[in-house]
Amino acid sequence: MKKLIVFSVLLLFIFFSCSQKNRPEITEELKTALRAEAKSFMETLKSVLIKEIQTNGIVSAVSVCSDTAQILTDNYGISKGIYIKRVSFKNRNPMNIPDDFESKVLKMFEEQFNKNQLKPESEYTELIEQNGVYKVRYMKPIFVQPECLNCHGSEEQISQKVKEMISKIYPDDKAKGYQMGDLRGAVSIQKTL
Ligand code: HEC
Repeated sequence: MKKLIVFSVLLLFIFFSCSQKNRPEITEELKTALRAEAKSFMETLKSVLIKEIQTNGIVSAVSVCSDTAQILTDNYGISKGIYIKRVSFKNRNPMNIPDDFESKVLKMFEEQFNKNQLKPESEYTELIEQNGVYKVRYMKPIFVQPECLNCHGSEEQISQKVKEMISKIYPDDKAKGYQMGDLRGAVSIQKTL
């Protein structure tokens, strides 16, 4: 009996020391890399948008935004081997509804925003374990800038043509009525470690 207990304790000890060893850490290096991914993803999306507005106008940019944003999101993630997307409680595209984790963090961002504590450099990182696989989840807030108001601003700020286009493609659009500096949503990244 005594032998069995000693053996079990030993086994437990080995098990825990092994699982401790396998548990990855969220290092500053990893955070820096995720921050860079989020930044370059948002810059890519924005530059496509601005280019389309400048060459073909705002109405055409709506359709570019609706098709290209999702394709870019998928391709970007695949090429980098990560999951990357934008999420929002007031989403335009149903593809951008937050999951449970994203909702938790968006709520936190919203609370910080209401207390004037959310900054452009704010971010959230968490280590997640699912069936022995470790993942890092990272989120960074997205704020409304002047050029966003053409499509996400008040009724008066969005032209009639753009409104028509948006309601045709997104009958359940919730992404209007924003003001400069508002919290629009967040970039969300998942990476298996
Ligand atoms: C030309 C119109 C247009 C402009 C300008 C525009 N957006 Fe959008 N936005 C859209 C459309 C259409 C969608 C839905 C398609 C998609 O991207 O998934 C969208 C979706 C989003 C989403 C994803 C969440 C959701 O609502 O589905 C975020 C976040 C977002 N926009 C932020 C911005 C920000 C920030 C700016 C300014 C830098 C901006 N948008 C400028 C049209 C626009």
